[in-house]
Amino acid sequence: MERSDHKSVYVATFGCQMNEYDSDWVVRLLDGHGFKPTGDPHRADLIFLNTCSIRAKAEQKVYSLLGRLRPLKEARPDLILAVGGCVAQQQGERLLQDVPFLDIVLGTHGLPRLPDLVAEVERTGRQVCSVEFEAQDDEWHIADVLPSRDRGPEQTRIKAYVTIMRGCDNYCAYCVVPYVRGPEVSRPAGEILAEVESLLAAGAKEITLLGQNVNSYGQGLTPVLTFTDLVERVAALNPTRLRFTTSHPKDFSQDLIQAISELAPLAEHVHLPVQSGSTAVLKAMGRGYTREEYLAKVEALRAACPEVALTTDVIVGFPGETEADFEDTLELIRQVRFDGMYSFKYSDRPGTRAHGLDGKVPEEIKGRRLAELQDRQKKITLEINQNLVGRRVEVLADGFGRHPGQLTGRTRSNKVVNFNGSADLIGRIVHPLVTQAWANSLSGTL
Ligand code: 5AD
Ligand code: SF4
Repeated sequence: MERSDHKSVYVATFGCQMNEYDSDWVVRLLDGHGFKPTGDPHRADLIFLNTCSIRAKAEQKVYSLLGRLRPLKEARPDLILAVGGCVAQQQGERLLQDVPFLDIVLGTHGLPRLPDLVAEVERTGRQVCSVEFEAQDDEWHIADVLPSRDRGPEQTRIKAYVTIMRGCDNYCAYCVVPYVRGPEVSRPAGEILAEVESLLAAGAKEITLLGQNVNSYGQGLTPVLTFTDLVERVAALNPTRLRFTTSHPKDFSQDLIQAISELAPLAEHVHLPVQSGSTAVLKAMGRGYTREEYLAKVEALRAACPEVALTTDVIVGFPGETEADFEDTLELIRQVRFDGMYSFKYSDRPGTRAHGLDGKVPEEIKGRRLAELQDRQKKITLEINQNLVGRRVEVLADGFGRHPGQLTGRTRSNKVVNFNGSADLIGRIVHPLVTQAWANSLSGTL
């Protein structure tokens, strides 16, 4: 293989969709500085890890990957190793001390500075750390690097993500996000609409609006704009499908419910993290709603839009969670019958309010509660999915399935469907007949 004149960057992403978005953005930014993406760290001149610290496990993954990259760096000292994202933000200089073969530590607000820092390391060979929170205005230069037709794999072109806000002001007791991502800042609607237009022009069919709490979008913007206003404007650009995540039950408004039932592109799926079914635990978490208020939102949503699919997040073993509290969560799961659920054992994060709480739940009890909850939910998901067998569903084909001749895509309700079909259908709406259902996917035929 001939040696090309450009340099290569390998990007590894941990954690949430926001990080996926940021990583895509970094790839485009570096492209403008002569770096082409590679899927092989052995060929890379620059390795960038975009990290997550939401739970201890996510953080451990970063350290274990760094351990595996060490021999690479030792074999090729001119390889530049950079860590960005939430672990970088939280650890700062400490990370450079703990991992001496690391070159760059870059905080969550520092992505635009990566090319400069890389140049600095190339020049001086010294470690650099940049973890200050930027002033609000400097943060959104990210619109300067818009996606273009010829970049990115098929799947990211069909399904595109647009960050509409950063940070979080909610300070839920268990959560590091407000500390590592900073205060909530909404992106001006004009920038969001321009990015969506450019994505649609580049062939995107499905747009997902991203934020830690999209429902509080618009705080501090002039003119005043709500999330529902924004959704209406994005829908008016006519994407085939429009999604948003993550919603916060306390800010999930009646006019958004109305919009979901009325705006054609808005997909009938809402991810509405409940976290616990016990009002006492919700209060200790600082979530800002009771069990009853959550259930009332679900009822209003289903009244306006009976076919809406609901998914949720649950944390088991929050400090002080009793067996009765946990039973309340199980009962809520039975009552709501979510289409799907992400569930986690409470993970103690230094710096959060919950870190200092008494009543920490032993690991084995958390494990037992998690297994029981997941077992219950799996049965419900399976029942809901099996009800689709024998019906035609609307699927946006977004790529190849695992087997030859197979395509994959998602329903409007966000369920994965694998079906027979030819490559020319990718990016198109198709209507397979569901033939089989599992907890994680459906099988269909055209
Ligand atoms: N421990 C366990 N789960 C957590 N989450 C956030 N912080 C923690 C934590 N400290 C979960 C919440 C959130 C999801 C993204 O991660 O359920 O909705
Ligand atoms: Fe974390 Fe709560 Fe903000 Fe979600 S709303 S990011 S759980 S603090």
